[in-house]
Amino acid sequence: MKPITDIASLRGQFPILATQPGQAPLTYLDSAATTQKPASVIRAISNYYEATNANVHRAAHALSDRATAAFEDARGKAQRFVGARHAHEIIWTRGTTESINLVANSYATANLKPGDEILITAMEHHSNIVPWQLAAQRTGAVLRAINVTQRGEIDLVDFQRQLNVRTRIVALVHVSNALGTINPIKQITAAAHAAGAVVLVDGAQAAAHLPIDVVDLDCDFYACSGHKMFGPTGIGFLYGKEALLDAMPPWQGGGEMIETVTLARTTYNRLPFKFEAGTPHIAGVIGLGAAIDFMNGIDPRALASHEANILTQARVRLGQLEGVRIVGTAADHTAVVSFLVDGGHPQDVGTLLDQQGVAVRAGHHCTMPLMQHLGVPGTVRASFCLYNRMADVDRLIEGIEKVREFL
Ligand code: ALA
Repeated sequence: MKPITDIASLRGQFPILATQPGQAPLTYLDSAATTQKPASVIRAISNYYEATNANVHRAAHALSDRATAAFEDARGKAQRFVGARHAHEIIWTRGTTESINLVANSYATANLKPGDEILITAMEHHSNIVPWQLAAQRTGAVLRAINVTQRGEIDLVDFQRQLNVRTRIVALVHVSNALGTINPIKQITAAAHAAGAVVLVDGAQAAAHLPIDVVDLDCDFYACSGHKMFGPTGIGFLYGKEALLDAMPPWQGGGEMIETVTLARTTYNRLPFKFEAGTPHIAGVIGLGAAIDFMNGIDPRALASHEANILTQARVRLGQLEGVRIVGTAADHTAVVSFLVDGGHPQDVGTLLDQQGVAVRAGHHCTMPLMQHLGVPGTVRASFCLYNRMADVDRLIEGIEKVREFL
């Protein structure tokens, strides 16, 4: 494992970072939207199409055997990455959104009845709100949201107040995409289990920054997106505890998820295939496996301290700028700083930064209820990851100073 000492050579593994897509060299501060991809991931995908492409689990030929072996090898990598007990507890999906929809359609539809409660938080991404609204409409369950403080932390008193014997599902984000808050998952899971609820964790923003151990967290479901952890778009996975997944009905029908089919009825395949109808995104799975290899090559302590140094520097220097207000000041946070510039709508600030090559996200970050709750129209969000350097913080600060002059 490599410590992050040679940032230039680390950045050299990401071809896109040396490009200039706009009017100035790229300063990429939008990794919470999607991380860039190392050459090893790009190579793994093109190698797959050049040398291994065949459908998996179906054909009686050597190429298909090779594709199947690579596909299932990647499942093992994902299993070890999140510390799951079994490879068949990893279900390939299109990403976090589809993973949550799987649980909301399968588990929630099968288990919720009128009057049951689903508990989320006010800081959730739309992908961890809307599937539960739909599940509540289908089942007659009630959707509730835990309050979030002005600092951007879960109000644990409100959580305890709202958790009750009718709570069947608690669904929350590990790391907030809009504010960077790290939530106390272990504590929440223990309390939810004591009340008889299962817990789903949206891990999309955690995977590139924090070690994940689903057994230690004791969550029932954990969802990840490949493209937010240096892998390709269109692929991700759902971890679920074996006993829960076994008892859940399939949510999509088709090839691969079946054991036998007659025109009258179907029996279903074993885990994980029961939830993987149709030809999967094989190249995506193999690319995600390569992304996990890339992350395994980096010392997690070095990663944490590198990112913490950069984020601290960004937060301190933004805090010193006149007319800039940081939104979200949780004690435990990572990777993201959200802010407002006096007299500038977030979208305009984003556009002016882009003209200087600084790529940020501006707006509601798919967390409209959180923005309403905090009383802001949206924010400008700079998000960092392992390939960022102090010079990127300098570019951000210089960029905002120019925005301030312009405004
Ligand atoms: N969920 C992604 C973000 O926060 C797209 O930007």
